[in-house]
Amino acid sequence: MMKSSVFYRDLNRVYESFAGGEGCYLIDREGRRYLDACGGVAVNVIGHGVERIAEALSKGIGAASYVYGAAFSSTYQEELARKLVSVSPLGDAKVFFSSGGSEANEGAIKMARQYHVERGEIGRWKVISRWLGYHGNTMATLSVSGRPSWRTIYDPYLMRSPKIDPPYCLRCPLGMVYPRCGLACADELERTILMEGPETVSAFIAEPILGTSVSAVVPVPGYYERIREICDRYGVLFIADEVLCGYGRTGKVFAIEHWDVQPDIITIGKGLGSGYAPLAATMASEKVVEAFEQGSGRFVHGFTFSGLPASCLVGNEVFDIISDQGLFERVEPMGEYLASVLRHMAESHKIVGDVRGLGLLAGIEFVADQESLEPFPEQMGLTERVVRVAEEKGLLLRQGTSGSNFNQGGDHVQISPPYVISEAEIDEMVDLLDQTLTDVEEELL
Ligand SMILES: Cc1ncc(COP(=O)(O)O)c(C=O)c1O
Repeated sequence: MMKSSVFYRDLNRVYESFAGGEGCYLIDREGRRYLDACGGVAVNVIGHGVERIAEALSKGIGAASYVYGAAFSSTYQEELARKLVSVSPLGDAKVFFSSGGSEANEGAIKMARQYHVERGEIGRWKVISRWLGYHGNTMATLSVSGRPSWRTIYDPYLMRSPKIDPPYCLRCPLGMVYPRCGLACADELERTILMEGPETVSAFIAEPILGTSVSAVVPVPGYYERIREICDRYGVLFIADEVLCGYGRTGKVFAIEHWDVQPDIITIGKGLGSGYAPLAATMASEKVVEAFEQGSGRFVHGFTFSGLPASCLVGNEVFDIISDQGLFERVEPMGEYLASVLRHMAESHKIVGDVRGLGLLAGIEFVADQESLEPFPEQMGLTERVVRVAEEKGLLLRQGTSGSNFNQGGDHVQISPPYVISEAEIDEMVDLLDQTLTDVEEELL
């Protein structure tokens, strides 16, 4: 095999590449088809190999010539921003485009900070977040991420960012049980704001439905309403990171709409370009926009590729495909079907500790003991085994990132297929998963 010149994330592994894709399948160079149960990493929403994207690019590529976003705009950017605002819960919002979810969250952190500066509250800069949250891999977004395995070696570079416990009822970090807990984990936000000094706190950032660190944990009813009350009480902005759980993934366009709450800033990414172009967005609510308009009028931020016309062109086509095919509406019924077959399949597997999620975002947590929920020892690499056996069977699964049991093991996989998935494909996916878990359980005997 020829030596690779790519600096891969794992230099000891051989990375396969695919020859093509079609709907929910990826096809390797030998023609073998793999069911993409995760849309890569909750990215692909419209399916692989969609010709309309190629046609839109070939027709529009001239008008999508690069222009610098600090000097010029494009009709693609204008159009896409209008479409996103039309489906958002943020009122007369505005959209700042970027290339990926980390950039979108970096933008949200800076937007929140500048919001306070515009209003004369220059002491507000701290961003409170949650353990087991993930917001990106740049230094600021890693600082607000609560994933120790990705933070530890960069710790000297990270900014101070207070963390509260996540609303993870299965392994409640406060040892409580809902509803008797009275939403104690949300109240931690208030205590943390008070301890830090409200005049120093800029924002609270959270994934409405927890994504890759714990795979699809859905907070209980009332959780975000309490978070919103606390933020309002202390003049703290609420940033909903919907990079993974947004853009239709959970059955509503924005996952926060499952609660009766309006955030101040929403970030989206992944599905926005569906993997056909790097594209993400920071969406500012009317309240945030007004502070800028009544203040300096200028956002001190930007990248070379902010609002890239070619990416926005793709974003428009993805949006139109979603609208034409009713894909946002399709997620809820398909998600209910997925949940029912997953739960049924799980009944015959003693390593499954939890099946959870909403819409086409599901998570399966594996445990050594179903009664005590004791996780497998980390060094066993249980999830890696599941992913490897599944791949041998033609099923691509996304391994949840290690440590859902608060950095002491905790195995889980995420399921987040393209929205075009059919019931027959869900059956095939769950059947392959069933066979995979049977083989892994046999290996453990
Ligand atoms: C919730 C969430 N926020 C932010 C990011 C970072 O996005 P990106 O990898 O596109 O920079 C991710 C990526 O997985 C994510 O899941």
